[in-house]
Amino acid sequence: MDTNIKAYIEKNKDRFLNELFELLRIPSVSADPAYKNDVLKTADAVKNSLIAAGADKVEVCKTACYPIVYGEKIIDEKLPTVLVYGHYDVQPADPIELWTSGPFEPVIKDGKIYARGACDDKGQMFMHVKAFELMMQTNTLPCNIKFMIEGEEEVGSNNLATFVKQNKAKLKADVILISDTGIIANDTPSITVGLRGLAYMEVEITGPNRDLHSGLYGGAVANPINILCEMIAKMKDDKDHITIPGFYDDVEILSAEERAEMAKAPFSLDEYKKALDLSDIHGEEGYTTNERNSIRPTLDVNGIWGGYQGEGAKTVIASKAYAKISMRLVPNQNSDTITKLFTDYFLSIAPKSVKVKVTPHHGGEPVVTPSSTAAYKAASKAMDATFGKKPIPVRSGGSIPIVAMFKSELGLDTVLMGFGLDSDAIHSPNEHYGVFNYLKGIETIPYFYKYYAELSK
Ligand code: BES
Ligand code: MN
Ligand code: MN
Repeated sequence: MDTNIKAYIEKNKDRFLNELFELLRIPSVSADPAYKNDVLKTADAVKNSLIAAGADKVEVCKTACYPIVYGEKIIDEKLPTVLVYGHYDVQPADPIELWTSGPFEPVIKDGKIYARGACDDKGQMFMHVKAFELMMQTNTLPCNIKFMIEGEEEVGSNNLATFVKQNKAKLKADVILISDTGIIANDTPSITVGLRGLAYMEVEITGPNRDLHSGLYGGAVANPINILCEMIAKMKDDKDHITIPGFYDDVEILSAEERAEMAKAPFSLDEYKKALDLSDIHGEEGYTTNERNSIRPTLDVNGIWGGYQGEGAKTVIASKAYAKISMRLVPNQNSDTITKLFTDYFLSIAPKSVKVKVTPHHGGEPVVTPSSTAAYKAASKAMDATFGKKPIPVRSGGSIPIVAMFKSELGLDTVLMGFGLDSDAIHSPNEHYGVFNYLKGIETIPYFYKYYAELSK
């Protein structure tokens, strides 16, 4: 099998890259309605790639917004079924001027594929299509496969949640397999065993009913921008603890042993700082950097605006100020509960001199995936086979909200076998994905199926 896989990849790698490039050229930005036709085009391209790879019953399933591409290969009802999830939508490319080549004109530089979606998630999703093709062509597919590739992950997966609830029979499987996360380094494989949840809020502060001359009124009326900043400042104390009453009530406390185990993962604070040009790190007192960005919840302002932002100086007190504030959640926090706690607290700290509106955006629940299952062991053995090293289980700080729903709605555990690197600049300008990582993924996935079939017997 070993030589089969390697030989097939070696023979087809240029085509594997070119086919991914075709997908990367379509700007499937789900957040911006201007790209609607491109998002739909991408769904069709994914559909065609599944058909070409050998899937049956391939369909583009309509939803209230962007479609979900489904396809399957059932070889024997008695064999285990793996449901592969991925997303074909991407984040907006802006700020576009910071890209060194066009975000939708993929190129390889220094062994890396540069394009929006190269890693998140077109590149990683497409590894599964190519690994499936490889298994079909080499007659080595040992399990049933179902694919479910959605187009709204980057905007909250609202319609996928409905689709999952309404298609439980169609999605019947034994495990979910996803490549939409990362590894520690190319010589240090890891498997993600936890994802944070999310509660995302937008706030609007209104002071006077119109913009005012800051000389005539300044000092005598509430400036909504000043007030908003004061309110945001009140949401954390000097130890960087979040001050929302009840915020930590449900937070799972890890044992000293679990934290010691986590601390074994290789990590260099110096390299971390250097990579981000930071002279110092920052975060909640009492926790390490890796703990702060995985097992601890956060509150971050994602955007803040209001008042004059044009050239030169304008002396004005704005009528309104706005911010987008997100909270990453950890087990056993709940996004609805946190949304309510945030809203109550935010309203309670507002002075009478302003009006406050809080609007929740999408949310998602945190998850921890088990590392004792046959599927986890299969992924671990697969990575061991191709990296020559046993992968380390790590909790990630990112979110894939649908994973918690796979468990609650379908009763299925997920294996998060991703191949990206933190340095791949996902969601940032110059997103990239290593050719090494892309091909390593295609090589590793067939081993997952082989070991999963063996371990499920
Ligand atoms: N693939 C990412 C999540 C991710 C990346 C998890 C790396 C772990 C490691 C996913 O596409 C993403 O960006 N999710 C969003 C949440 C969503 C609701 C917009 C996120 O984490 O911000
Ligand atoms: Mn993703
Ligand atoms: Mn993403």
